[in-house]
Amino acid sequence: MRAGVTNLVEVEDLHVHFGAARAVDGASLHVTPGEVLALVGESGSGKTTLIRAIQGLQKPTSGQIRVEAVGGDGPRPKIQTIFNPSVQMVFQDPTGALNPRQTIYEIVAEGLRIQHGDGNEQERVAQALSRAGLRPPERFFPLYPHEVSGGQRQRVVIAGAMVMEPRLLLADEPVASLDASIRGEILALMRRLVDETGLAILVVTHDLGLAWNIADRVAVMYLGRIVETGPTEQILENPRHPYTRALLSVVPETREMEQQILIGEIPDPARIPSGCRFHPRCPLLQSGVLAPEIAARCPTDDPGPTAVGAESAAACWAVPA
Ligand SMILES: Nc1ncnc2c1ncn2[C@@H]1O[C@H](COP(=O)(O)OP(=O)(O)OP(=O)(O)O)[C@@H](O)[C@H]1O
Ligand code: SF4
Ligand SMILES: [Mg+2]
Repeated sequence: MRAGVTNLVEVEDLHVHFGAARAVDGASLHVTPGEVLALVGESGSGKTTLIRAIQGLQKPTSGQIRVEAVGGDGPRPKIQTIFNPSVQMVFQDPTGALNPRQTIYEIVAEGLRIQHGDGNEQERVAQALSRAGLRPPERFFPLYPHEVSGGQRQRVVIAGAMVMEPRLLLADEPVASLDASIRGEILALMRRLVDETGLAILVVTHDLGLAWNIADRVAVMYLGRIVETGPTEQILENPRHPYTRALLSVVPETREMEQQILIGEIPDPARIPSGCRFHPRCPLLQSGVLAPEIAARCPTDDPGPTAVGAESAAACWAVPA
């Protein structure tokens, strides 16, 4: 946590359980104003569940989520509710997120109307579309989602979020469903919104390569926990957790790294392994190079979660604190 910077969001020891399945199992993270945090991890690691909880769409089993309040007498931690307009969500599939029977104008204006709009609706819709790169905005007012391209549909979704003037955008795989050729444009747009408006973005991706392009910091999630966090450069150039190293070794941009194929699938969250939850798949443990006293701890002692607010941390017995 940087001194003097109030965190926009603090998630502390969050648990979201679905029966025996511990989808989120002690996750902690923070987001500061004006930064992009990439949340990465394999399918099933709990990324979507975590951001749904931050958005207020998913009730936590235990733990804390604090979202900085807007307005009133200054920033004050408050419990997130689904109606908090300062947190907006962008989903993976823009086509599914848009009502095909609404015009782009109606889609973007919808959030304002729910919030009992303040009169200058048309101006705010035009500004949001324009910010999202749909210019001139008036040209897009009467169009339906099917009349624009996939990339433009994702821009409409982003405009619908930006019209609420959020402090935080939660984006769940925002480019995964898009054509590879337009992914870069949408990422560049998101980065520009951050730089121009001071917005913060928590972007979920299973693609570490994408973090290169957009994120200031990275949080790596495995089986419901953040197992490593740090500045993007450090995570991508000097990853410390064996899971991060394995994820990175298959990213094309890091080809010089020795490939480490992870054995097996991510375990069922109803059967989280004892000790270090990564131990059955850990290439470092399997390599036999660990000091015996460390190797002995891996299957029995849980290295515990990374701390909320930590700038740089790795939950691994082999990584010095
Ligand atoms: N409503 C639910 N009921 C039961 N289990 C669920 C529910 N939602 C998620 N899970 C389980 O929780 C775990 C985490 O799911 P989640 O969707 O959060 O992962 P993810 O990291 O977003 O994966 P992906 O990259 O595939 O989107 C998975 O094992 C999933 O099957
Ligand atoms: S604690 Fe042990 S098993 Fe877990 S990641 Fe570190 S070395 Fe691997
Ligand atoms: Mg998901």
